[in-house]
Amino acid sequence: VREDGLRPRRLADYIGQSELKQVLRIAVEATRRRQEALDHVLLYGPPGLGKTTMALVLAEELGVRCRITSAPALERPRDIVGLLVNLQPREVLFIDEIHRLNRVAEEILYPAMEDFRLDLTVGKGTTARTRSLDVAPFTLVGATTRAGSLSSPLRDRFGLIQRLEFYGLADLEAIVVRAAGLLQLPLRPCAAQEVARRCRGTPRIANRLLRRVRDVAAVGGHGQIDAALVDAALSLHRVDGRGLDASDRRLLRLMLEAYGGGPVGLETLAAGLGEDPATLEAVVEPYLLQLGFLQRTPRGRIVTAAGRAHLDGPAAVAA
Ligand code: ADE
Repeated sequence: VREDGLRPRRLADYIGQSELKQVLRIAVEATRRRQEALDHVLLYGPPGLGKTTMALVLAEELGVRCRITSAPALERPRDIVGLLVNLQPREVLFIDEIHRLNRVAEEILYPAMEDFRLDLTVGKGTTARTRSLDVAPFTLVGATTRAGSLSSPLRDRFGLIQRLEFYGLADLEAIVVRAAGLLQLPLRPCAAQEVARRCRGTPRIANRLLRRVRDVAAVGGHGQIDAALVDAALSLHRVDGRGLDASDRRLLRLMLEAYGGGPVGLETLAAGLGEDPATLEAVVEPYLLQLGFLQRTPRGRIVTAAGRAHLDGPAAVAA
């Protein structure tokens, strides 16, 4: 079973994100009765929380196909035009990393989203003219880790704008138990809890950790997988008791050792770590903020007392 096999296919199998599910369930049911395309949906939030999965689930619930692409693959106008003209009525077009769309692609998208129409320029210079072309009514599902980076005309064309939240422990545990079942792993409840605690609130990471645990269990020839085995397997991969990995700890250590715990600016930290500031902000920081190990202040980031205590405590692993 690959990652795809672990994805829930229906809303009823999708664990957690209850507010998102409730909003979408109502929207799907209403559009099904009206026999229309579902309103365009923007999903935003940290990576790995199930944005792509939700797009696939929506298509399944609507009984249509889902075309999957990402903004960096839509570099030339004809890339997006090609996708749009090939859509069947009510199909879902999923564009990942939609904040990275270029201006030209965005401007092709506006009339397509609003009036299911393409305005194409044919010819060059003085002979150039525009031609309009109808496209099938469709649903655009856009995903981004950075809702703030979307241009407002694009954002305003989504009827539903929904944030995905980090998952709570009970939901994560249920997701791990479900995945273990699909992978036919004999996982004790204590082991599922341990994976849930260490996956940074993120199902994609939970499933990845579960595979690492499976490897260690396979090689060690254990029977039932317990919490101690999970601890051994994940320590090997330098995932600590709260799920921090090497790059999280590097960030906290840099802040403590070079900047006295802060405040220090995002750009400075990114330079010190050799990371891109946008990635640091959208991918590394959110979970540390959620744990309360890091705080954003007007003067920069600071490490909290809890963050310090964690690095010095028994739940952290070396380096
Ligand atoms: N696998 C990954 N994410 C999931 C979710 N939200 N619900 C059920 N299974 C999942």
